[in-house]
Amino acid sequence: MTDPPTRSGPEFASGTRRTLSIVRGEGAALWDDRGRRFVDLGATHGAGSVGSSNPDVAAAVAEQARTLLYLGSGYRNPVRTAFLERLLGLLPRSLERVFLSNSGTEAVEAGIKFARSATGRSKVVAARRGFHGRTMGALSATWRRELREPFEPLVPGFSHVPFNDAAALDAAVDDATALILLEPVQGEGGVHVATPEYLRAARAAADRTGALLAFDEVQTGIARTGRMFAFERWHVVPDLLLLAKSLAGGVPIGATVTTADVERRFRGSHHSTFGGNPLACAAGLAALDFAVRERLPERAERLGAVARTELARLPPERVREVRGLGLLIGIELRENVAPYLAALEDRGYLAIPAGATVLRLLPPLVIADAEWAAGLAAIREVVAHGPG
Ligand SMILES: Cc1ncc(COP(=O)(O)O)c(C=O)c1O
Repeated sequence: MTDPPTRSGPEFASGTRRTLSIVRGEGAALWDDRGRRFVDLGATHGAGSVGSSNPDVAAAVAEQARTLLYLGSGYRNPVRTAFLERLLGLLPRSLERVFLSNSGTEAVEAGIKFARSATGRSKVVAARRGFHGRTMGALSATWRRELREPFEPLVPGFSHVPFNDAAALDAAVDDATALILLEPVQGEGGVHVATPEYLRAARAAADRTGALLAFDEVQTGIARTGRMFAFERWHVVPDLLLLAKSLAGGVPIGATVTTADVERRFRGSHHSTFGGNPLACAAGLAALDFAVRERLPERAERLGAVARTELARLPPERVREVRGLGLLIGIELRENVAPYLAALEDRGYLAIPAGATVLRLLPPLVIADAEWAAGLAAIREVVAHGPG
């Protein structure tokens, strides 16, 4: 019996389609098991901002692995402290407590629990087209029906309002709302950028009702959008900031950052065996140092501007809209994106979709100028001539 095409050996066929076998990475380059070189325009799903196998991160991980590979979160550890201080040093002063976990969905899950516990309320207001992860709480905040339906019933108390509609958000938030949960730029939902008015309205609705405001920056955090954190652009500070993906340079991590007030009001316990482990913290410290030293926010801003100029020339008969911020870019096509991704792969570029028609670009922020320019040229060619 032959395997169906979506199977990849012993791995559970959970809906992910895998064709290439990637064995090595360096910066924005990836190599498959046949020695073919690809440029990563999204293959690392936003977790590769500092580049694949970043030498600083790799050295820190190797050194930490030799020194203390694992320690439970019930003990202090200087590497963890140094990492948390480095992270908090990049954030507004009100954000001063961090809970560490191992993934984006866990960072969201902790945020939901902290908000419910601290407020004594249960309602969560999220946005249509939002994506927050796949564990049951985070999935309940996620919008797309096909991601939710097979796993229902989900967690009660969640509602979704139209994104960028300040009046609808304000109307949905009341004295029973524990949490308003938003992405400053919706990534998986098709790359939609929040307006400043919308985020300000979210802050005002939280302040009016006593709800907490969380920004899910799992995808946008760590320099991706041209700021170290996307919310900096709008000067709206959340009560909870949810981070993961690139925070530890590609090593699994999640962080739920919040205020001393939320911590003070929190009742109960929340814990993770591997959360805050020294290996991830050493990687995180190296990744943050690298992002600051190499001025990755400025780089993302500059390369994003180059892309917007280039992509503005795409033919409107094939492209509905180009959206994005920094190096998180969505090209909304007028037809299914899959053949375009395949055509790019044939040319040595790995990009990913965001829904059925959006071609999403989120390359490592270290991508060389010339490599980025060549990638944009390949996209222009594929889009202009059709995937063939
Ligand atoms: C905004 C956002 N939140 C949460 C998640 C979930 O992160 P993870 O896949 O690490 O659980 C993602 C993943 O794409 C995301 O983009």
